[in-house]
This record gives sequence, C-alpha cells and structure tokens, in this order.
Amino acid sequence: MTSDLRKSCIVANWKMQGSFKTIAQLLTDIAKGLTTSANTEIVICPPAVYLQKVQTILSKNPALKPIRLGAQNVYCESKGAFTGEVSAEMLMDLGCQYVIIGHSERRTLFFEDDTLIARKFVASYHAGLIPIICIGETEAERTQGKTVEVIYRQLEAILQHGSIEMLAAGIIAYEPVWAIGTGLTASIEQIEVVHTAIRSWLTNKNLLDAHKTRIVYGGSVNGQNAERLMASDTIDGALVGGASLIANDFLTICSSVIARV
Ligand code: PGA
Repeated sequence: MTSDLRKSCIVANWKMQGSFKTIAQLLTDIAKGLTTSANTEIVICPPAVYLQKVQTILSKNPALKPIRLGAQNVYCESKGAFTGEVSAEMLMDLGCQYVIIGHSERRTLFFEDDTLIARKFVASYHAGLIPIICIGETEAERTQGKTVEVIYRQLEAILQHGSIEMLAAGIIAYEPVWAIGTGLTASIEQIEVVHTAIRSWLTNKNLLDAHKTRIVYGGSVNGQNAERLMASDTIDGALVGGASLIANDFLTICSSVIARV
C-alpha cells in the first residue's frame, strides 16, 4: 500500500547499454504492455547520446506519452570550457525532467566525491530538473554497522551546497552498493530500516512536509521480486538497472509499483 501523500516513482537506469536499434525495439515492446497511473511516475534514463532519440519516440507513441525523460549524469556548471560535459540547462533543453546524481558507479569508477555530487545536485535543482540522489553503503560499511552513518553523511553533503528544501524536492534513491547489479536484493527489513532512518533525518532537519519526499529503492529489483518489495509503504518505488532493459521485467515492475496505489 502506498502513502496517499507521495507519488510512486519507477526510474529506469539503462546505464551504458543499447543502440538506436535496440532502444527502439525495447520502447516498442514496453508500449505494447504499459499501464500507467496518475499516481505513479515512470522515468527512463538512457545514455546521453540517445536522449533525443528516446524523447522523439516517447512523444510520437501515445502509449509511451506518460513516460518522462531523465539523464544519468550532469555537470555542475551551466556552460564553459568543460570538454565532454553536459549541463543541466542543456538537459532541460532536450526535454529532460530528471537526472540521476551520485550513482555508486559514478562515485567509485569516476571518483565523484560528496562535494561534486552536491554541486551537481544544486545545479540541477536550479535549472529545473528533479535530481534523483543515490545514496548507499558498501558491503564492508554494512558489516561494520556503519550503514546509517554513511547514508547520513551522503545526505548532509548536499546541505553543504544546497538546502534541505532542495533535497526534499528531489527523489532519494537508497541503493546499497552491494545490491547493485549483483542479484543480491536487500531484504524488505533492511530497506525499511534505512528508509525510516532517512525519513527521521528529514524530520530532524525541521523540514516541513518531510513526509512528502519520495524514497525509492534500487539494487537488483526485477520482475520476480518487485511485487514483494513494493508491498512496503516505506518504499515509494524503484530505481531499476538491468531489469529495465528487459521489456517484460520492466512492465512487471511498473505494474507492481502501480498496484500500490
Ligand atoms: P540493478 O542496478 O537494478 O542492475 O542492480 C541498479 C542501479 O544501477 O541503480
């Protein structure tokens, strides 16, 4: 069951996968089975080079119209000599409404630290994008009992450059690093402990409407486990990697999230 205060949200993170051909096919297959609901947002985040192509397909196919476009990354400056980077304003220009920030792959493989992530968050917010901020502990941090400490540090970092209101206007994605792409989904109990801790943190920051911020889960969500995971009313949706590239799995996940409403 979902909270009537928060819209559910499914974010498809295609990562660095696909081609013009496979993307068109995937969206055709999704269009055949997609059911939507006013209370659930579906966001697709393709690789940057395919954003425009996906935008065109979404606008032309009425079955896909409710799907929104998101980017997987952004730079923290609006323009200038930053070879290879893309600004939040440019993403807006393309029709993006969302952007994933602080994904663990960017933190580890591309050495993004809390400061850069916070600056990206703030730049995206100011440009008008909805930032989806990913936070989560590694396996070692969990074993050492540091899960909540790590999550709080990652959230606090946003406040160094932004505000609690900005953070609350985004979507928080709890993604334990050990669950991403591994097939090891966190248990509902593990997710609930962290989601509840995040909501208490928001409340403790004197945020009015702390109950309104969306907190979604990511990490090996698939067609088999989505229904079970989405049964928790502390989980406002899912950030899906691998399974978002398989039409049937993605459709099952969307139905499971919509069924919460
Ligand atoms: P996964 O990826 O669903 O393949 O585990 C999740 C993510 O990248 O956020």
